[in-house]
Amino acid sequence: MPRYITTPIYYVNDRPHIGHCYTTLVADCMARFERLTGGTRVFFLTGTDEHADKVVTSAAAHGMSAIQWADRNAAEFAKAFAFINASNDDFIRTTQDRHKTRVVEYVSALIKSGAIYQGSYEGWYDENQEEYLTETVAKEQEYKSTVTGKPLVRRTEKCYFFKLSAYQARLQKHFDDNPTFVQPDARRNEVLGRLRDGLNDVPISRPVTDDPATQFGIRVPGDEQHRIYVWIDALFNYLSVVDTDDRRELWPGASPLRGEVAAQQRTNATCTHFIAKDILWFHAVIWPAMLMALQDTAAQGTRFNFVGMSTTVYSHAYWVREGRKMSKSLKNFIEIEQLEAYANKYSLDAVRWYLLTQGPLHATDADFSHSKFVEVYNSDLANGIGNSTSRVGNMIEKYFGGKVPGNQAADAWRAFATDATQEFNWSDICKNALGEGLRASNSHDVGGCVLAGLIIVRAVDSFINVTRPFSIAKTMDADTTSKQRIALEGILYNCAEALRIASILLSPAMPQKMAQLWQIWNCTPPAGATLEQLCTFAGPHALKPGQQIAKGEVLFMRADTAEAAPA
Ligand code: MSP
Repeated sequence: MPRYITTPIYYVNDRPHIGHCYTTLVADCMARFERLTGGTRVFFLTGTDEHADKVVTSAAAHGMSAIQWADRNAAEFAKAFAFINASNDDFIRTTQDRHKTRVVEYVSALIKSGAIYQGSYEGWYDENQEEYLTETVAKEQEYKSTVTGKPLVRRTEKCYFFKLSAYQARLQKHFDDNPTFVQPDARRNEVLGRLRDGLNDVPISRPVTDDPATQFGIRVPGDEQHRIYVWIDALFNYLSVVDTDDRRELWPGASPLRGEVAAQQRTNATCTHFIAKDILWFHAVIWPAMLMALQDTAAQGTRFNFVGMSTTVYSHAYWVREGRKMSKSLKNFIEIEQLEAYANKYSLDAVRWYLLTQGPLHATDADFSHSKFVEVYNSDLANGIGNSTSRVGNMIEKYFGGKVPGNQAADAWRAFATDATQEFNWSDICKNALGEGLRASNSHDVGGCVLAGLIIVRAVDSFINVTRPFSIAKTMDADTTSKQRIALEGILYNCAEALRIASILLSPAMPQKMAQLWQIWNCTPPAGATLEQLCTFAGPHALKPGQQIAKGEVLFMRADTAEAAPA
């Protein structure tokens, strides 16, 4: 079942910041987890949205043409995503021909079918600012320009509209039939509430005049005087990138229930759009309606009978700063440089871990806080996975010359830990952690998904506390058949093998650090193995008794809680 995962395409009017990196990171982690599950094609897309008026304005303010400015900032986004180690399979820029030609094709089909029609737009116009204002804004300004004080004028102009109102019932049905289409539930309810208020057709074009600022954008097919509104152009990126012979299977197939699609043209692919709450309406309502409209054109003989609905729109909340929205005017953004400073000091994977586990994944905003960063770093990473792996590695080195011990009597430790209240059935512990990871990933709970590995780490810690292998070692002699030796072998085997499985589950969040551990422990997972195989305790990819493991560097050094934030 192909899995297609997308992020918003970001405006290139400015440089990327933590918010953009966060959504791309969440999608990256999900894509890495899906790739691990194996046996399926995973395709992860991110990119930039370039035909926006604010890009033109910002370019002019920097003395550049729109495309020069877009080139420069698109490169900044690509650099930022490389820095966070995003594993995207493609990077779309909406100024690329491959996208523009598809958009023209889609819009032509929609004009032909009547889903896009020509009408006129009437509204309050500020002649000085050359912009229309909504009724609410116009009223707030007492129908006067805030700049010149001159009265706003009532103006009408030709415009193209998308017949959104025609899709109300079908959208409602789509929501009813697919209760997880928009997640989390709080966001779904918001959309449903607004949907009930009714839908108006949406203007989807802007006029082209002599002003160069109006000339950046894709022209409405057959009408050079109008360009396609940036949002309509942008949403189509999700389809245009995979609308090629070798990628079309990635797009979810049209519903067989609609009876319009031949069986061989359907795919059971899924497509998940990760976005934040700011752009929910576009993704949850306008975009599915556009897809419905496009699919409807198949009745007139277009090739769009393969077009089904995206599967999920996951809309997270916002990173904020001391409870306040991050904004240019407040100058309180967490910039890439700051994330880089954290990565230099604590490692990139620690930054990924913090963002993924403490971020605004659900409906509540999250505050970026240095003290929280250090607390989570110490507890999950330095004292968690870092400490466990180095402790176990050191004991294997010290007592068994760095060779993975055997596990001939898995229960022999019981004789030395008579007060143990837990079973420590490692096969079950690992199976449960995997189940937790899969459950969380299926509900797009990326934070829960990566925390599954920590369940195993915590179990290893309590196992060591209960069995006290270092005490057993003190009474062990050279006799290879002694009870002590056999118990110690079993304990350390269990610990190391369980930590190997933990490292697999932690790897989508911390690919570099886990790869480092695999190198030290000589257990890099082979390509093509499924997650289930990799996570089976003492299964086909288990640590082999006798296999040499090296004493590597500590993965995460403890951090001083009193230290100031890196700058
Ligand atoms: N270009 C449109 C999206 C078109 S998608 C077909 C756009 N671009 S944007 O540059 O403004 O990016 C908005 C997205 O950036 C949000 O939906 C979210 O993914 C991310 N974030 C921006 N600020 C954010 C926070 N403060 N916190 C978390 N994510 C945020 O809208």
